Amino acid sequence: MLNIRIERTANPRKKPEPGAPLGFGKIFTDHMFVMNYTEGQGWHDARIVPYQKIPLEPSAMVFHYGQTMFEGLKAYKGTDGRAYLFRPDMNAKRANASNDRLCIPRIPEEDFVQAVKAVVSVDQEWIPSDPGTSLYVRPFIIATDEFLGVAPSKTYLFIIILSPSGAYYASGLNPVGIWIEDEYVRAVRGGIGFAKTGGNYAASLIAQVKAHDEGFSQVLWLDGVERKYIEEVGAMNIFFKINGKIVTPMLSGSILPGITRNSVITLCRDWGYEVEERRISVDELIEAQKTGALEECFGTGTAAVISPVGKLRYVDDVMVIGDGGIGPVSQKLYDTVTGIQSGAIKDPYGNWHVCVDD
Ligand code: PLP
Ligand code: COI
Repeated sequence: MLNIRIERTANPRKKPEPGAPLGFGKIFTDHMFVMNYTEGQGWHDARIVPYQKIPLEPSAMVFHYGQTMFEGLKAYKGTDGRAYLFRPDMNAKRANASNDRLCIPRIPEEDFVQAVKAVVSVDQEWIPSDPGTSLYVRPFIIATDEFLGVAPSKTYLFIIILSPSGAYYASGLNPVGIWIEDEYVRAVRGGIGFAKTGGNYAASLIAQVKAHDEGFSQVLWLDGVERKYIEEVGAMNIFFKINGKIVTPMLSGSILPGITRNSVITLCRDWGYEVEERRISVDELIEAQKTGALEECFGTGTAAVISPVGKLRYVDDVMVIGDGGIGPVSQKLYDTVTGIQSGAIKDPYGNWHVCVDD
């Protein structure tokens, strides 16, 4: 259990007006959580302080070799007016999986969840309540040793910042067009693809720029070895409905084990769908689209929620999915996931909808 010191701001910022467009990740709240790590001492000095710049030396290791991890989750204003999180224990577990891979010291899961709850509780007035909005929570760790050798740092900062946000994609629930990348790869098994760390996203930018230039909003990656099997999108996992079955790439070490992915698999199985986690080749998709077996395609992610895909491009093939609009399973998943998140639908699992003040 952390002993968190709280220093409230003397200069509260202006909150966005209800109805004002928020965008994603552009506005920050009054406070942030900070905790230091020092070798020999462990994590210490947990505190909530006014949102502020962090002084770092130019030699801080994070700037050079990217020893860092981040998480992403959201806080929602419940129908009862209280503040809720969605499955924060899963983020705490995944943070440690990333930490282990990057030689960053672990944070006990209960401390991670306590820190998230505490800072969201302090800034809960910032949770927006317009439909489709929430308070995006971004925990992250950076290596802070002042040293240019390549080695694990001996000091770190764990910080949590909060951002009232709307839809991740400007198109909202309108289907997005996705570019299947055939030149660059994002990750390989044995690498860092399963971890949530800056390097994966830095590696993805060039293909994202290319996809945007071609009029597509996101990149769908293929496996790094054969460049044949579907992996995931830049900020979401990917699902297909093929011949009535829900199909998604299996977790092989090179894709992020998404919490929304896990939730969608659980819901679909409970609704009676057969869900297959397996390898899916791009050829299988092209074939399924030609025969009409490819009924739906959607991405899943905290920021993106359930994001219908209307069109996929691979080299010279452009596959339009269904009628190009949102499919019924995608719509039902969107309604159910957002309903559980806000509390409008009763949490069927008991630990998905977690109040920050309990
Ligand atoms: N894949 C990548 C690369 C992501 O950045 C994200 C977003 O967090 C996801 C998948 C979806 O994961 P989650 O559902 O836990 O947000
Ligand atoms: C999230 O969905 O939480 C993410 O981290 C996606 C992010 C890359 C914007």
